[in-house]
Amino acid sequence: MLSFLSLSVRFNISFGPLIKNLLTFLDSIQEDLIFPLFVYEDEHAYKQSLNSGYMNNSKVFSKNLITRFEELAQLKISNLLLFGIPTKRDSLGSESFNKNGVIQRTIQTIRETFDKKFNILSDVCVCQYNTSGHCGITSGFQVAANQPMNEMMIENDKTLNILGKISLSLCESGTDFIAPSSMMDGQVLYLSNLMEKSGFKKVKIMSYSAKHNSCLYSPFRNYNYHKNSFLDKSSYQSNFNNLRESMREILYDIREGSDWVMIKPSLWYMDILSIAKNLIEVPLVVQNVSGEYALLKGGSKLDKIDQREWIIHYFKSLRRAGADKIISYLVLDLFVESEGSPKSFI
Ligand code: PBG
Ligand code: ZN
Repeated sequence: MLSFLSLSVRFNISFGPLIKNLLTFLDSIQEDLIFPLFVYEDEHAYKQSLNSGYMNNSKVFSKNLITRFEELAQLKISNLLLFGIPTKRDSLGSESFNKNGVIQRTIQTIRETFDKKFNILSDVCVCQYNTSGHCGITSGFQVAANQPMNEMMIENDKTLNILGKISLSLCESGTDFIAPSSMMDGQVLYLSNLMEKSGFKKVKIMSYSAKHNSCLYSPFRNYNYHKNSFLDKSSYQSNFNNLRESMREILYDIREGSDWVMIKPSLWYMDILSIAKNLIEVPLVVQNVSGEYALLKGGSKLDKIDQREWIIHYFKSLRRAGADKIISYLVLDLFVESEGSPKSFI
């Protein structure tokens, strides 16, 4: 027979109003929340994307950077994961490593204006900069325009070379972290060696270690790569049904020099979070993605759920499963709920 000793311990249950609960919670988790932000280089593309009415708080036009960052600072949001939406795409995704590219300039502006107030993590991938929407350089041929590529291949090592150029340009601009997300083999080892050789030893790496091939990305893909919203990334993203593969990728990335490791998405991957948490010592990050956001916002629009309560429970359960840090579009909603909304948000 088990003796339920713990039943004699009184649970610490707070019956306070939800707002008090929220503020206490925010206090305890503030430093570990990371807000993703898409910076648009082109005003027309920015305005058009606002028409989708979707994730608009996570989008900013590059010329409005300073105002938007002042508002973020006012809300006490200080950890940001930056993604760029360039004006031009080409087959190599060359704008991704342009020294004056949209993210490179964004980082320089933030540093000049706000010094070290923000902790900046920068996405390292080519899919938003190339014409295919794949996370790697592709080779292959097209039978006719608008037809799929035949025998298309992802060129792993050519991609590493580009990821290296992107990373160095971001380091030169002053990023705190690079966040390689293209899921190429050996990307962390390649980038950590390159950064060490190039004198950027202080810049840290948060790798997308177990980035699963998932339909939870579909809202993001629909508005980012309208023409090819069906993209099969299964040859390089993690198989969502193979726990061992996910764990192996996390362990490899740590061995290759990753400072933080990340699991993406969050909701259907909490088992992986909790197993990883028990195996590793480096900070474990989880990314709550666009499909998860859509579920929550959809429910709240139908007036079926209380958004604030759901976000708190969502984040608390991710913590319980093992997340040290949480990346989420919902971070802003949570802070706005606690502080009142500056004009340009929500
Ligand atoms: C690709 C990338 C993805 C997301 C951001 N960058 C996934 C993908 O297209 O495979 C998804 C983000 C989201 O759904 O919130 N590097
Ligand atoms: Zn990508």
